Amino acid sequence: MSASKKRIGLVGARGHVGRELLRLLEADDTCEVVFVSSRGGAGQRAADAIGATGRFADLILQDLQPGDVEARGVDGVVLGLSNGQSDPWIKALSPRTRVVDLSADHRFDDASTGFVYAVTEKHRDAVRQAQRVANPGCYATAAQLALWPFESDVVRAQVFGVSGYSGAGSTPSPKNDLQLLAGSILPYDLVGHTQEREIQRHTGIDLSFMPHVAPFFRGITVTVSLDLRRGIDVDEAHGMLAERFADEPLVQVMNGPNPPLVQQVREKNGVIIGGVHADPVQRRLVVVAVIDNLLKGAATQALQNLHLMLGVPELSGITP
Ligand SMILES: NC(=O)c1ccc[n+]([C@@H]2O[C@H](COP(=O)([O-])OP(=O)(O)OC[C@H]3O[C@@H](n4cnc5c(N)ncnc54)[C@H](OP(=O)(O)O)[C@@H]3O)[C@@H](O)[C@H]2O)c1
Repeated sequence: MSASKKRIGLVGARGHVGRELLRLLEADDTCEVVFVSSRGGAGQRAADAIGATGRFADLILQDLQPGDVEARGVDGVVLGLSNGQSDPWIKALSPRTRVVDLSADHRFDDASTGFVYAVTEKHRDAVRQAQRVANPGCYATAAQLALWPFESDVVRAQVFGVSGYSGAGSTPSPKNDLQLLAGSILPYDLVGHTQEREIQRHTGIDLSFMPHVAPFFRGITVTVSLDLRRGIDVDEAHGMLAERFADEPLVQVMNGPNPPLVQQVREKNGVIIGGVHADPVQRRLVVVAVIDNLLKGAATQALQNLHLMLGVPELSGITP
């Protein structure tokens, strides 16, 4: 192992997102994964338990405690745990260890906790200075990117989201019950969803978010409907999107009336924004974004943020 590589540990490595992260890190020559922690998978080879290949295939999953992780003295830790589990790990880790928390636990923190909330493209400069990052939610990432060029023009927004069932994690629930979902779409948390509050908190926009789960495994469509202060036509909206994302390799703007589809981003690291429709007289604008919830909605963005904190190239191992 090269001495200059950053030493990384994954906690919650057996989850949907942990697996994706390990796969991305395999192609990342700036980082070496030195441990993978999981309770249920402890003792198993990463190849057998989570489908790891190449240089990480022979890692053994370990049931590590927060103190064990601190004792490893790694450069970076990614917490891929269920919501509500991060506190003991955060308390145990010293400030020298850069941390990305994938859960919602620190997405609402003020600056005093040391966490920076980061949709990478929006908050890159803050991440470079951060010790800890609260990684955004998957719907929230797609919605905030689609809203970003128009933020100062928005009076109110409605966000309609449809996610593959991997968005609900591995613990059995109605949202990942394939018998319940077969041939159907399940609306849930139709008021007050955590990511409704998250988008509101980080954009200042008054909005309603209506999430749904579909019977496919991965991928999200977010349709963002905006009531604006002024009329914006389709050409101007495309121009604003193109200008905002011109230098962003992971954000593709699609012209024309056809919406981007989940199948275009599945297993891809980027977001596609398009399907723009406008009624300048009514001052309404509708924009569609698609994202792979497990990648740019979780693992890819966690790795972008980790890289920035560690001072290595943001897109190492990440193919746009
Ligand atoms: N799925 C998505 O699309 C998505 C998108 C954005 C953000 N996120 C967030 O990312 C995190 C991981 O999501 P996921 O979909 O990968 O979840 P998941 O598939 O349910 O995996 C969670 C992992 O954490 C471990 N774990 C759970 N509670 C633990 C505890 N108290 N102590 C130690 N380990 C614990 C699990 O069990 P074992 O220890 O037995 O392995 C598993 O490895 C969640 O906070 C989620 O909100 C998910």
